[in-house]
Amino acid sequence: MPERDVPRHVGIIMDGNGRWANARGLPRTAGHAQGEPALFDVIHGALDLGIEWLTAYTFSTENWNRSPEEVEFLMHFNIDLLRRRRDELNDLDVRVVFIGERHDPRVPEQLRIEMATAEELTRDNTTMNVVFAFNYGGRAEIVHAARRLARAAAAGKIDPESIDVEAFAARLYLPEMPDPELIVRTSGEMRISNFLLWEAAYAEFVFTPVLWPDFDRTELARCVDEYRRRERRFGGAIDAVAGSGDGTSS
Ligand code: IPE
Ligand code: IPE
Ligand code: MG
Repeated sequence: MPERDVPRHVGIIMDGNGRWANARGLPRTAGHAQGEPALFDVIHGALDLGIEWLTAYTFSTENWNRSPEEVEFLMHFNIDLLRRRRDELNDLDVRVVFIGERHDPRVPEQLRIEMATAEELTRDNTTMNVVFAFNYGGRAEIVHAARRLARAAAAGKIDPESIDVEAFAARLYLPEMPDPELIVRTSGEMRISNFLLWEAAYAEFVFTPVLWPDFDRTELARCVDEYRRRERRFGGAIDAVAGSGDGTSS
């Protein structure tokens, strides 16, 4: 049997940094710092696998609920990371894009500048798209799309009756981004935590107990292998296989 294609788009909920640090008697922030080499190893692994889109959940719209010290650390960590890593990403021919509420006044101006700089530097790269979901929430994204449609309807530019799934999807943060075929969450938590709610409609989920700082390209390849063994059905029925009767597709 020929090997099935790798997913075009993989979403990753990078979770478990705090527990990784706590287990070592370190502050939670040390876990975030250790998550950086894990992410970059995964980016290299995704390039090797031929994945075209990789979305990394870096900060949720609910993560503001953490202590001011942790939030402050994460904002400055992101500024530093973008400055240190943007040339490497560019050299890898990776296009960097951000989705989320970047104009939220709680986001430091310097971070907004670094995000725009990384996007601008890498805008013409084509080998892989790395999407950072920062100050991102799936509900906020859906509200954003609804607001844009409402505005267009109120201005008489679209007929409300013409609004369909395609019209809605075209108003999400990054309409050209394909839906993820695979979403990986580390650290053993089995929930979506407001990640890519609309786009995940038919994603396969792989949950691994590995804490994010311990995750790497080998773990990513394992998750992709598990994805390949799944049977995706999209609401259809299992094809009967003559003689086997176990529903296994050929
Ligand atoms: C994920 O790790 C990183 C972010 C949410 C920014 P956590 O910080 O959630 O780690 P745990 O879940 O507390 O272990
Ligand atoms: C989800 O992880 C957000 C990110 C990975 C950035 P959380 O650790 O914030 O999610 P919950 O609170 O456990 O659901
Ligand atoms: Mg967590």
